[in-house]
Amino acid sequence: MLARFRELQSYVGWTEDDARRVSHARPLLTPHLSDLIEDFYAEIERHPEARKVITGGEVQIHRLKGTLLGWITELLSGVYDEDYVTRRWRVGLKHVEIGLDQVYTNVALSRLRTGLSVRLETAWSGSCQELTQTMQSLDKLLDLDLAIIEDAYQYEYMSKLQRTERLATLGQVAGGIAHELRNPLNVVKTSVYYLLNARNPPQAKQLEHLGRIERNVESADAVISALSNFARMRTPSLSAVKLEPLIRRVLEDNPLSPSITAVVDCPAELLDAACDGEQLGIVLGNLVRNARDAMSEGGRLDIRARAGAGFVEIEVADEGVGIDPEILPHIMEPLYSTKARGLGLGLSIARSIIERNGGSIRAESVLGRGSVFTVRLVVASLEGGL
Ligand code: HEM
Repeated sequence: MLARFRELQSYVGWTEDDARRVSHARPLLTPHLSDLIEDFYAEIERHPEARKVITGGEVQIHRLKGTLLGWITELLSGVYDEDYVTRRWRVGLKHVEIGLDQVYTNVALSRLRTGLSVRLETAWSGSCQELTQTMQSLDKLLDLDLAIIEDAYQYEYMSKLQRTERLATLGQVAGGIAHELRNPLNVVKTSVYYLLNARNPPQAKQLEHLGRIERNVESADAVISALSNFARMRTPSLSAVKLEPLIRRVLEDNPLSPSITAVVDCPAELLDAACDGEQLGIVLGNLVRNARDAMSEGGRLDIRARAGAGFVEIEVADEGVGIDPEILPHIMEPLYSTKARGLGLGLSIARSIIERNGGSIRAESVLGRGSVFTVRLVVASLEGGL
């Protein structure tokens, strides 16, 4: 923290002369501080959004006035060591803790800055040049303080946000998993109950229940596989990947129903993509399975690859049911699933993987006509390697 402060000091051109000038100004400003502090809190009183963080009434305001007096006194002390920086940093932390919007600190500091300048000018008896220099030193000091408070504010605010988001996501994931696993487990439970308790069940019934158990155990397993895919996502290892063989392999691994015709269009001269081939395979597999699910009545699945300026694109287009325009912007968000089964992780995994591979993915769709998912990746360079 001190290193950062020193770096900021050098940025604003802070020197020992500045520190000396500020401490010379201190006796001139001290008689006016209580007046400045009254003005500071009177302004807060006039702004309900700022005022609302003061929950302890007059007693707290009285205490805060003392705190601010201490803060200004230290500001003018001329000593800017590690303890000083640590205490300044704490202001930002405290403000996040109480939920004060940083803009109020900015405007309050600006008011304080004007107040200090006006009082200094009134009390000044030296030369104009010295006054200007002292004001500049004071300005630099206030800028540094604001930078530290703001830095602390950002840091603490982001950590707080991350903590809240992490908890919210955890809750969402837990709810999603519970929901996804409860259904198949309930079916298994019912069938097991039947098999254990039915008196002389006909063989056809027994087989029907065993079949149900098998299917539902498989869907529970698919939920767990989707989750572990998500958890295992490793850092991509980029290489030059030939698209056509990869697309063909993905189609082999994800068989389509006989009513779906797959057409691959990949120009022979197409440049390789710079990506992790295995991860791109996971993404294309997801897209192919989605297309297949969207075309339960059959149709045509087109996979087209083409080159642009510095990139290659792979389009996966189906003639399926399409996606509601209201849902379309959300389909790549984690846990946003509209399928009866599926945790809504497939497309969010796809997006996350493609972004980690330095690419992007977009979706277009017309309800009742079909959807097109386009993956864009950086082209592998011609000079060998990537
Ligand atoms: C120039 C701008 C400001 C400065 C320099 C400043 C300074 C401080 C300091 C030094 C603290 C004590 C931090 C600690 O506990 O270590 C503090 C806390 C606090 N500040 Fe500010 N502040 C500023 C703006 C504001 C504004 C605009 C409000 C709006 C109401 C505000 C409300 C508070 C409150 C409620 C606390 C908690 C104090 C307590 O423990 O009761 N501050 N501030």
